[in-house]
Amino acid sequence: MFTLEVSRGRVVVLSSDPAVAREVLSGDPSLLFAGEGNVVLRPLLGPRSVLLLDGPEHLRQRRLLLPPFHGERMRAYGERMAAIAAEQVARWPRGAPFVVRDSMQAITLEVILRVVFGVEEPARVAALAAPLRELLDAAVHPGRLLLLQFTSSESRRPRTPWGRMKRMMAPADAMVYDEIRARRAELEAGGERRDDILSLLLEARDEDGTPMTDGELRDELMTLLLAGHETTATALSWTLERITRHPEVLERLQSEAAAGWPDGTAYLDAVVTETLRLRPVVPAVVRKLQAPMTFGGWELPAGVNVAPSIWLIHRDPQLYPEPDAFRPERFLGRRPGTYEWIPFGGGIRRCLGASFALFEMRVVLQQVLAAVRLEPTTAPPERVVRRFVTFTPADGGTLTVR
Ligand code: HEM
Repeated sequence: MFTLEVSRGRVVVLSSDPAVAREVLSGDPSLLFAGEGNVVLRPLLGPRSVLLLDGPEHLRQRRLLLPPFHGERMRAYGERMAAIAAEQVARWPRGAPFVVRDSMQAITLEVILRVVFGVEEPARVAALAAPLRELLDAAVHPGRLLLLQFTSSESRRPRTPWGRMKRMMAPADAMVYDEIRARRAELEAGGERRDDILSLLLEARDEDGTPMTDGELRDELMTLLLAGHETTATALSWTLERITRHPEVLERLQSEAAAGWPDGTAYLDAVVTETLRLRPVVPAVVRKLQAPMTFGGWELPAGVNVAPSIWLIHRDPQLYPEPDAFRPERFLGRRPGTYEWIPFGGGIRRCLGASFALFEMRVVLQQVLAAVRLEPTTAPPERVVRRFVTFTPADGGTLTVR
């Protein structure tokens, strides 16, 4: 356990101990806030975003959002995800190196627009994707977001960063609201039932029987887009970066793919688990103490941020012998302990899209392995660099395919 003062007055206590991770992640959510730390995203996500709320308000949004993301439901989305991936892979250059992250971002964005937002018409997907992409690119510049945070409400004029962000958001917002209204009208008119996540959320009711408002739906759709798009694209890029540097892993995957996965996807799933262990997209989960609390025997004052380090827990040699080695076999026939493998955080704030992301990764990787032969490389591992809150490959996962 150690303390970092990351900026003046912002103290983070990190721990590499899974027992502390359990104490923190399963602790009393009324004393361990997570939403406050994401306040920088408020201009983009809006005040009702599940990422930004704490306490009972967080719980209400989370309960409304959870059922559509249940693991079993994901199968319904497999065909759409596979078609989107196949279309992207078909455009990859052959025999020349290219950056795979761009393609992975295109896939994960389209998956969210079709499967979460339920937009099917290609022209509409393209019209929505363009302003959202621009918005997301702006959002990965923390400096820009910080500027927004410090712009007071009185100075929110067109020339301020806030004004620029608002202008940039206007077309995306208008389209998202249009989509919500059109879908609501369709539902009220007794139209055909759809299985996309927005349609399910329109039918969701809280404990008092109250549906979500258009504003709530807009904020949660933006949240799912932001939380689910870049993260999954990065995890996919890391998986491809890792397997092209391990010819024996690649060989096994290619031959299982060629044979049509005769023994199921256990090995592919182990490859994904091992990638998320060694290259977790998010390096730590953070909770801000609302009162003095004790973790791992240390008494910490209110106001401190306590952060189980995903990165360090995943590299503990006691849990993972030869922790730096990329060895998917570790996870064959063995599930990691709940707080020993935490790329999706845990407890009441655990990633809502974890099943969605793991399912999507499996489907996309199967499409890639079926469509092309990846060239193994002897290039050194790509460096880990920070992009906003994520850890991504420095060269975006550079690949060559045949
Ligand atoms: C490999 C891909 C992904 C990774 C590594 C990832 C990781 C995380 C992490 C570490 C958290 C914080 C958990 C905590 O504080 O305990 C989180 C929260 C969240 N994630 Fe993900 N995520 C991924 C994909 C997705 C997807 C696909 C979606 C939705 C479509 C999504 C939606 C969310 C939401 C809504 C939250 C906030 C939950 C809450 O505060 O209650 N994520 N994610």
